[in-house]
Amino acid sequence: MKSVRSVVNNANAKMITTKITAGFASKVGAILAVAGSAVGLGNVWRFPTETGSNGGAAFILIYVLFMLILGVPVMVTEFVIGRHGHKDVTHSFLSLSGGRGGWRWMGLLPVVAGFLVLSYYSVVAGWTLYYAFEAGLNGFAGKDAAQYAADFAAFSSHPVWPSVWMALTVTMTCAIVALGVRRGIERGAKIMMPLLFLFIVVLVCCSLTLPGADRGLTFLFRPDFSKVTGQTVLSAMGQAFFSLSVGLCCLCTYACYFRKDVDLMKDGLKVATIDTLVALLSGLIIFPAVYSVPGLQPDAGPSLVFITLPNVFQQVFSGVPLLAYIFSLFFYLLLVMAALTSSISMLEMAAAYFHEEWRVSRPKSAVGVSLVCLLLGTACSLSFGLLAEVKVFDMTIFDLFDFLVAKFLMPVGSLLMCLFVGWVVDKEIVRQEITNQGTLRSPFYSLWFFLVRYVAPLCILLIFANELGLFGFIQKP
Ligand code: ALA
Repeated sequence: MKSVRSVVNNANAKMITTKITAGFASKVGAILAVAGSAVGLGNVWRFPTETGSNGGAAFILIYVLFMLILGVPVMVTEFVIGRHGHKDVTHSFLSLSGGRGGWRWMGLLPVVAGFLVLSYYSVVAGWTLYYAFEAGLNGFAGKDAAQYAADFAAFSSHPVWPSVWMALTVTMTCAIVALGVRRGIERGAKIMMPLLFLFIVVLVCCSLTLPGADRGLTFLFRPDFSKVTGQTVLSAMGQAFFSLSVGLCCLCTYACYFRKDVDLMKDGLKVATIDTLVALLSGLIIFPAVYSVPGLQPDAGPSLVFITLPNVFQQVFSGVPLLAYIFSLFFYLLLVMAALTSSISMLEMAAAYFHEEWRVSRPKSAVGVSLVCLLLGTACSLSFGLLAEVKVFDMTIFDLFDFLVAKFLMPVGSLLMCLFVGWVVDKEIVRQEITNQGTLRSPFYSLWFFLVRYVAPLCILLIFANELGLFGFIQKP
């Protein structure tokens, strides 16, 4: 196998002469693909869970604030880096840094991040596919509350089945990535994103007719700031990073395929708006339903989607079994599509590297990365059963991967990208990218640059200082 150094040097030599061969055909396709990368389990699963556990509307307000001052600015830095290189992420960092200061090593971030994130994300994606299958077979009908918890525990700790469902989701993801940027990723996003919206709208309409709709809406939209703690602030910040997939070079990778006339700032805001809308609408599906069942509370944590909701859907539509069936099926299909559109971007970032830098064909590269992720993912999956006792730093394998991605790579990657664009890259190049070579007015340019240079790095450093226990002012859970 080639050494990393020779790979990077090789890329350096080629960077002037080669340009990317793939690209999104349309602006709409580009927005839908990036929105697909952002909209995922983070919106439909993690957002309601976090909102439920952190007191509702106050959490949402803080989350939106972090989207604006951290999420969107970092996303636009990724766009600048990716689109400027217009080949792949390695090339982008090389070209923008001129090979100085070791920044070219950042080109390996998407590879490392791609393997790590896809491996554990596809475990949960596999669970959603299994739940969609169960919903299709009407497997949630006629059970009592304890049975849903027992069924989920039995399924997630099984030594074989979760890995099989995970392998199915990885295979679908791989097939789409192998087809290429236009025929696979863009076309997939153009089909799945509108479907996803359709499912969401249907489910929201049903949910708002339920008896608990009022209480669900109050929980979602009436802030109670007495519930806000330091932990709420940290969770909101983490959710903003996770939901937009920033810091891993996912967005850089897609931006390599952007046309030169894409308005990076505007598209960043559009993607963040779509992402937040989907998260809020998911809340509008889930909380009215949860509040419609006496005795249930919205703070069930991560088990909300796999234990509480199947029960909720059966109970709230108990008089109309067909509605319970349709609601459950649509909801889990929605989760499957959300998971797929995100996992496609995770596979793409590592596969693109081997395709562009090592000259491996796209299908082979996608299959190779998928196989490694399947191996790692199986270990993550088994950490809910056979390997539950295997702990690294007191975490199970799944938790370790989640920690490395969400608590380490996402903030560190975001910090490095802000420092790179804010302090290292020639300011004129940055301005040219944001204004499309001076053809666009960009009224928010100065504000964005200020956030990228000072505010975002400072916020991220504060989180780290707190994680390291340097301050006592934010209480840990
Ligand atoms: N942004 C992706 C999600 O929300 C990772 O699931």
